[in-house]
Amino acid sequence: MELNNKVAVITGGDSGIGFASARLFLEAGAEVVIMSNNPETLGVARSQLGPEVVAIEADVTNTQALGAAFAEVGRRFGRIDVLFASAGVVSPTPLENTSSELFERILRINVAGSFYTVQAALPYLRSGSSVILIGSVVATMGIAGFGAYAASKAGLSGMARALASELTPQGIRVNTLVPGPTRTPIWSTLAHTEKDLQELEKSLIRSIPIGRLNDAEEVAQAALFLASDRSSSIQAAEIVIDGGASRAPQGAPAYRV
Ligand SMILES: NC(=O)c1ccc[n+]([C@@H]2O[C@H](COP(=O)([O-])OP(=O)(O)OC[C@H]3O[C@@H](n4cnc5c(N)ncnc54)[C@H](OP(=O)(O)O)[C@@H]3O)[C@@H](O)[C@H]2O)c1
Repeated sequence: MELNNKVAVITGGDSGIGFASARLFLEAGAEVVIMSNNPETLGVARSQLGPEVVAIEADVTNTQALGAAFAEVGRRFGRIDVLFASAGVVSPTPLENTSSELFERILRINVAGSFYTVQAALPYLRSGSSVILIGSVVATMGIAGFGAYAASKAGLSGMARALASELTPQGIRVNTLVPGPTRTPIWSTLAHTEKDLQELEKSLIRSIPIGRLNDAEEVAQAALFLASDRSSSIQAAEIVIDGGASRAPQGAPAYRV
């Protein structure tokens, strides 16, 4: 199997894309560690994934907690072959009424949290390891009212290239997944009822050429590719998974008569 003898750590591994990746990585033969800041959802995820999965609580903005969490991974496994920093948050931040606390929270979790995660994992990464970060098409699409999230994901893409240059001499690859809208619990922060969610999805679909959102598993398949040695010459790349929305928007339903 593709990830036999590999140890994979996934932040945000208790939900959405991180959870779907944990499931795929397990099926591919990896030892899987999931991390998040929420002990309840971590426990639920572990019971769904199986007892062989290690679940460790750590807030990615807390460098001490991250240090302790990765030290625990080091004690158990001695190394990390795949690091997938999937933890992240989204929120609208319209200019009129966004607090500095909210703006900075989004940047702290999405950008600084990913940086601290790689930093804490570094002592356990070795030549041949793969680091996977997660951006978003929102970085480049100019979505009104999402300035902080767009800044965080654009920043993350730039940071990924810097980290790739920094870690290449150690034989470590750093690549970025760039998903479009993907069906995960993150949308509950933008649509509070099932009806709102359906309305939001309907309006999003108009600008997605394939006519639907991604499933989390479709993004996880790209993560599996980057995690495996099949992507061994891919360095500092971005894999866009958005049904064509950002690169071939004219194929979208909104442009059809
Ligand atoms: N879904 C999409 O449409 C989409 C599109 C493009 C990019 N992305 C990106 O993909 C990544 C995964 O998102 P998702 O859609 O899978 O969302 P999700 O289901 O909400 O998962 C996000 C995960 O991040 C964890 N998390 C949040 N803050 C954290 C913190 N401070 N410390 C540790 N863990 C933290 C959450 O933990 P708890 O919930 O347990 O707190 C959750 O496990 C995010 O970076 C997101 O920006 C998503």
